[in-house]
Amino acid sequence: MVKKRVLSGMRPTGRLHLGHLHGTLSNWVKLQHDYDCFFFVADWHALTSEYENTGVIKDSIQDMVIDWLSAGINPEKSTLFVQSNILEHAELHLVLSMIVPLPWLERNPTYKEQQEEMTAKDLTTYGFLGYPVLQAADIIMYKASKVPVGKDQVPHLELTREIVRRFNHLYSNVFPEPEQILTEMSKVLGIDRRKMSKSYNTAIYLSESPEGIKDKVSQMITDPQRKRRKDPGDPDVCNVFTFHTLYSSKDQISMVNEACKKAGIGCVECKELMTDNLTTFLLPYREKREYYLAHGEKVTEILNRGTENARTIARETMDEVRKAIHIR
Ligand code: TRP
Ligand code: SF4
Repeated sequence: MVKKRVLSGMRPTGRLHLGHLHGTLSNWVKLQHDYDCFFFVADWHALTSEYENTGVIKDSIQDMVIDWLSAGINPEKSTLFVQSNILEHAELHLVLSMIVPLPWLERNPTYKEQQEEMTAKDLTTYGFLGYPVLQAADIIMYKASKVPVGKDQVPHLELTREIVRRFNHLYSNVFPEPEQILTEMSKVLGIDRRKMSKSYNTAIYLSESPEGIKDKVSQMITDPQRKRRKDPGDPDVCNVFTFHTLYSSKDQISMVNEACKKAGIGCVECKELMTDNLTTFLLPYREKREYYLAHGEKVTEILNRGTENARTIARETMDEVRKAIHIR
């Protein structure tokens, strides 16, 4: 049986952290078993917000792919590529831009939110408004049936389906409508208990060194009500405990759970135990990452192979598109 196709992408804007690992990446890794997966680096999407600071994009690409590989993305199973290497994405984006009514883009909630959030950047550009059109092009180029994304991306998938319907209605039935696979958000928070985010350096990275882990865990906010060592704590509101549930053994988890409530363990000791477990957990990821760092040519080879595969499909799709719209 032919496997259905899954496609997803990530913008290269920095190193990946534990939130990415337990959310997006673990989901991608699982999907590889049942689907024909395409995972790509959305560098043109990064350009929509980083156009004044393009260096970060180039620097992050190789690094991000190494993070994927160390997290278990298997290049024998999945196709990995960089968006800007397949020029067909730009062509399809252009074609779609002709048929997308402006109000569809202006009412996009993600567009409004991001503009409000990223006030340091001027995002009142043509390209940024068209972000979801480019995303639609990415998806339908490969006729993907499923697209794993976070909740914030659901409006973009809805828009993609609307664009597909409009294209198919205006020209001919070229594209299937893709469905989203909702990625569950990871429960790990940053060291300040806010969402793990690289913008505030509160994230623990996949590539974090043992010293870095130690340093960041020592800064982690615990149960805010637990002011002194002799005060009992509440593990259920403590981010350190959430980390224990992911990285510690069953016995350790129940020990911490009980001892914390009776002030039987101090936060310093509790953090040290978790630090050790997290460091051990990240060790195989670090080893894989170091291997690929030392063998950059392997990463290049993987991407070249992925590009070839993606390009073959993209060319076929664009032939169909040109035929459908009677251009060339
Ligand atoms: N917009 C997505 C994000 O920020 C990244 C992305 C670009 C994407 N093109 C895509 C995701 C196509 C899924 C499919 O997370
Ligand atoms: Fe959190 Fe551990 Fe301190 Fe309890 S003992 S509040 S679980 S860090």
